[in-house]
Amino acid sequence: MDKSFPLSGWGSVAVHAGHKQDPNYAHLVPIYASSTFVFDEAEQGMRRFSGQEEGYIYSRWGNPTFTEAENKIATLETFGIEKNGVALEAKGILHASGMAAITTLLLSTLKPGDKILTHYSLYGGTEEIMSKVLPTLGITAIIADLRDISNAEEAIKNDKAIKMLYLETPANPTIQCVDLEKLCELAKQNGLLTACDNTFATPYLQQPFRFGVDFIVHSTTKFLNGHGTAIGGILLGTDLSFMKDRVYKMAKTLGGNANPFDAFLLINGIKTLELRMDRHCANAMEVANFLETHTAVAKVNYTGLSSHPDHSIAMKQMRHPGAMLSFELKSGFQGGIDFMNKLQMCTRTVSLGTCDSLLSHPASMTHYSVPKEEKEKYGITEGLIRMNVGIENLQDIINDLQQALT
Ligand SMILES: Cc1ncc(COP(=O)(O)O)c(C=O)c1O
Repeated sequence: MDKSFPLSGWGSVAVHAGHKQDPNYAHLVPIYASSTFVFDEAEQGMRRFSGQEEGYIYSRWGNPTFTEAENKIATLETFGIEKNGVALEAKGILHASGMAAITTLLLSTLKPGDKILTHYSLYGGTEEIMSKVLPTLGITAIIADLRDISNAEEAIKNDKAIKMLYLETPANPTIQCVDLEKLCELAKQNGLLTACDNTFATPYLQQPFRFGVDFIVHSTTKFLNGHGTAIGGILLGTDLSFMKDRVYKMAKTLGGNANPFDAFLLINGIKTLELRMDRHCANAMEVANFLETHTAVAKVNYTGLSSHPDHSIAMKQMRHPGAMLSFELKSGFQGGIDFMNKLQMCTRTVSLGTCDSLLSHPASMTHYSVPKEEKEKYGITEGLIRMNVGIENLQDIINDLQQALT
């Protein structure tokens, strides 16, 4: 039923956005486990293929369960944003993973000879695409410390081949942040595209479109799904005709499409995003305060702490600094291993965004094979522990950390 009032609360939008009445009156969107969709008559097939009639054809190209997830996330990423007095709209394309969404983005926007300007401390898979895959296609990534805008200005001034600014803020695993407003302004002045990986923040904590970003990617595997039940990704853009034409055609040709069951899990996970994030964030702030005063801890990287160099950028562009933090143990590599082995409630694993607190030791896990000097350049020291603070009761999280630190 059409509402006589717009939904004003973020949580209400997260619950209801994207939902369409099911023709069979199912309460929740059904899992449309169908690879293909039938035509009433040959002419209808012709109309659908030629774009004269809207409708599903083949699930690599689109599926009603994907559509609900795509519209829900697009609504959340644009909620409350206006451009020239009109509500901003975005189109989302759901993918099999965050990496699939990033691949579609890069291949639909860049061509041989182009360069992409990005920063240190990107998610490892993204960094690998930049350093190993793009060069085979004649596309080069320039890496600079974009927390200092003058580095971006300098790079852009000196290289007319730069076509896109690719940002990840907060970045994985160091939680470094870059200034979306200033970098988007610079990109617009120079006719460059901008893309932002918003996985760590989610649209609840940060809406990159508000600052003029052109494309957003997410690993929906993380906080959006929220329960660690499926791998997924989404690519969103505000240039609707470019998204519907070039990007959509690239996505359906590359074939990194989502699947209906995972889309269903994602839709239902997003409904509780606001509640979960509020609890994740409140716990993270307290855990950071606890760790900062602990004698076994040399340093805490959490942008909610005023001691963090990116504190003011995070506070400027995020509702809250989030649920991710990292800390350095004074006891180095072996100390990291011992600490991880002592955890009793928190989970030893590499992902993030689930209800339970997840901890990993990059030096012995994700970054084990990266040379020491490289790791240090990215801020990954031997005793660094990355933590996704979960939604358990705070005292239990602190009790577990406390006993593991002694
Ligand atoms: C910030 C960020 N972006 C992208 C990805 C890739 O997502 P996926 O594992 O869903 O392909 C990850 C995965 O950890 C990530 O942390």
